[in-house]
Amino acid sequence: MSSTFSVANKRVLVTGASSGLGQHFAKVLAAQGAQLFLAARRVDRLQAFADTLPCAIPPQCLPLDVTDAASRAALVQRIDTLDVLINNAGIVRQSPAATHSAEDWDAVFDTNLKGMFFLAQSLLPRLQSTGGSIINVASILGLRQAGGIVSYTVSKAGVIQLSKTLALEWARYGVRVNALAPGYIETAFNAAFWQTDAGQALIQRIPQRRLGQLADLDGPLLLLCSDASRYMTGSVLVVDGGHLIHTL
Ligand code: NAI
Repeated sequence: MSSTFSVANKRVLVTGASSGLGQHFAKVLAAQGAQLFLAARRVDRLQAFADTLPCAIPPQCLPLDVTDAASRAALVQRIDTLDVLINNAGIVRQSPAATHSAEDWDAVFDTNLKGMFFLAQSLLPRLQSTGGSIINVASILGLRQAGGIVSYTVSKAGVIQLSKTLALEWARYGVRVNALAPGYIETAFNAAFWQTDAGQALIQRIPQRRLGQLADLDGPLLLLCSDASRYMTGSVLVVDGGHLIHTL
């Protein structure tokens, strides 16, 4: 059974791998023997991190701004075949919907949705050559609402619809596409918020009464990266301690 979940020697690209979830995914996959391509805008930071990973084959650290077509094209040129694309790069811009700027809207959509789609499209031939799969990092905020981040919630709803649509169209190429929808995961960047009254109140609305930890994503990640998910495409894997099914 363990070989079913194996990612050993799978060639996996993680975008936004210089921090947070992306960095954690890289650590987990490196420990399981995957051959990594790590991509982010800050390659120096990425390289320093990659040097700490226990990999038989050193990860390739590649510059990528997912919003920039030339940057995406340059990245694709550096990759000949690929088993898994993890579309993880994402941003959020906070402000009330009444004053949310066009600049914020475009920045969020260009990163979270347009960049994700066109990177996947460019890498389709590489993924087709291996019968590979795509994991698009969505969010429970693509399935429910929260105030003050309208472009983020709408973009993540788009990520879910994009994943299902690509799953439908690209099954004919032997490529699977699934969305991973985490709930609130504690990371270095959001840690301070969880200490506030608002943060504590939010945790009380999660049925499991705790935040997600990065390690809570390991099982779902390995499922989606491995052949264990070979009959899954167009799925939305929610990992949220029950947050979405909280009583009204
Ligand atoms: P983070 O800010 O630590 O990581 C985002 C990564 O994306 C960073 O490495 C950043 O450099 C990269 N990035 C941003 N714009 C980019 C661009 N134009 N080109 C290339 N890379 C770019 O945040 P976190 O929390 O690790 O988020 C990762 C993903 O997980 C995002 O898609 C986010 O929406 C999603 N997510 C996070 C949750 C959480 O609780 N932390 C919950 C649900 C989803």
